[in-house]
Amino acid sequence: MHANICFLFSLACFTALFNELYVSANGAQPQSLSLNCGSENDGTDGDGRKWESDVKYITGKHPHARAQYQDSSIDSEVPYMDARIFTSEATYNLPITEKTRYWLRLSFYPSEYSGLDISDSYFSVVAGGVTLLNNFSASITAQALTQAYLIKEYSLAPMNSRILNVTFKPADKPDAFAFINAIELVPTPDLFGSGTMVGFSDQTFDATDGTLQTMYRLNVAGQYISPTKDSGNLTRTWYNDAPYLFGAATGVNLQSNDSFEVRYGELAESVAPPDVYRTARGMGYYKDVNMKFNLTWLFQADANFTYVVRLHFCEFQLTKVNQKVFNIYINNQTAQVDSNAADIIGWTGEKGVPTYKDYAVFVKDREGDEEIRAGLAPINLFET
Ligand SMILES: *[C@@H]1O[C@H](CO)[C@@H](O)[C@H](O)[C@H]1NC(C)=O
Ligand SMILES: *[C@@H]1O[C@H](CO)[C@@H](O)[C@H](O)[C@H]1NC(C)=O
Ligand SMILES: *[C@@H]1O[C@H](CO)[C@@H](O)[C@H](O)[C@H]1NC(C)=O
Ligand SMILES: *[C@@H]1O[C@H](CO)[C@@H](O)[C@H](O)[C@H]1NC(C)=O
Ligand SMILES: *[C@@H]1O[C@H](CO)[C@@H](O)[C@H](O)[C@H]1NC(C)=O
Ligand SMILES: *[C@@H]1O[C@H](CO)[C@@H](O)[C@H](O)[C@H]1NC(C)=O
Ligand SMILES: *[C@@H]1O[C@H](CO)[C@@H](O)[C@H](O)[C@H]1NC(C)=O
Repeated sequence: MHANICFLFSLACFTALFNELYVSANGAQPQSLSLNCGSENDGTDGDGRKWESDVKYITGKHPHARAQYQDSSIDSEVPYMDARIFTSEATYNLPITEKTRYWLRLSFYPSEYSGLDISDSYFSVVAGGVTLLNNFSASITAQALTQAYLIKEYSLAPMNSRILNVTFKPADKPDAFAFINAIELVPTPDLFGSGTMVGFSDQTFDATDGTLQTMYRLNVAGQYISPTKDSGNLTRTWYNDAPYLFGAATGVNLQSNDSFEVRYGELAESVAPPDVYRTARGMGYYKDVNMKFNLTWLFQADANFTYVVRLHFCEFQLTKVNQKVFNIYINNQTAQVDSNAADIIGWTGEKGVPTYKDYAVFVKDREGDEEIRAGLAPINLFET
């Protein structure tokens, strides 16, 4: 089933948004769930978010374990220090609302747990019949990323069910076990729709009914935005983009005036919080300098998946069309170029109004191709 999972990442760039309503079929407001797995008690994390024990959502009795030490990158014991351990297949039955899209976030802290060798931990995770992880080692994955813990985020297609089953199954080998530190289930609007495949005007993608995985979510030229600072109660995390910039030309960091207000207009504020639109990475200011370069971000990707790249834009300096016009390239293919080049004011009509653009690209299994490259290059910048 892996093949029908698309991957996506959001790259919040200059400014913009969209308009979604989400109410369930019976009018009930879908609820979020934050589970502190392996803990018998409810708790509060360093950000003030509340987490409840997972006990009542899981069938059968399963051991729990406490991490031997707290990594310095973990600012709060909740929800990482406790883990639920599975030595055999086990299922969480989580309450959902029909016809609603959810984010499912799985957090793993592959630490030392007494009596367990974390290098034995290989497992699969299946949610609502879709395999999200297979032969997964949180320990190897975390090491490869040089992170102490991992948060996997999936956008699950709406289901005709009031229960979401999330099944953990240890790999078929001696001493294998599965574990989980935290599970979050967050109702979301239908954040992604359909569009054209970059480089193939005759091919389209449709994420409406798909299950997607978030790969990267960056606040370009801006700060880390914690889940409690996100918009629309969506508890997303936004990271600074600097580690993903490629090449020597990294542009200039731009910040809006303190008095600058993002006017969402027809876009729902849940698309991205205002801070995402208050910072930008620009190409530079000087007419006399040749600004003919690509501002490029580079991401590692797995082959044979379709990726959706969302670029957010908000102009906070200029007011007229044709003042800032640029080409957009995704994986060296033209996404918006020349007569179809990007012009934010042309798209939004005015300063301070955010917008976003989605581009889909299929990553082939070919030497050198396992990457996503997003490039912006100015054309006739500051034409007057
Ligand atoms: C699981 O992954 C490990 C480490 O990458 C690998 O050695 C092993 O062969 C894999 N097992 C299966 C059944 O794919
Ligand atoms: C979910 O799992 C329970 C057992 O834990 C099972 O009875 C039920 O049929 C499953 N539901 C779905 C939709 O798979
Ligand atoms: C966010 O959650 C709070 C508390 O549950 C609720 O009062 C508020 O309306 C929610 N806001 C949005 C945008 O859903
Ligand atoms: C990608 O798909 C091709 C064709 O189905 C297959 O031969 C190849 O092994 C796949 N690559 C990966 C990394 O899964
Ligand atoms: C910020 O505000 C000042 C004073 O109102 C104005 O002169 C300046 O142009 C503004 N800068 C931007 C980037 O909008
Ligand atoms: C894009 O072009 C660069 C530079 O020419 C090259 O190194 C890279 O492999 C290309 N990437 C793709 C996905 O074609
Ligand atoms: C930017 O990148 C694209 C695609 O890789 C390339 O075709 C174009 O020539 C580059 N533009 C500049 C100004 O380097």
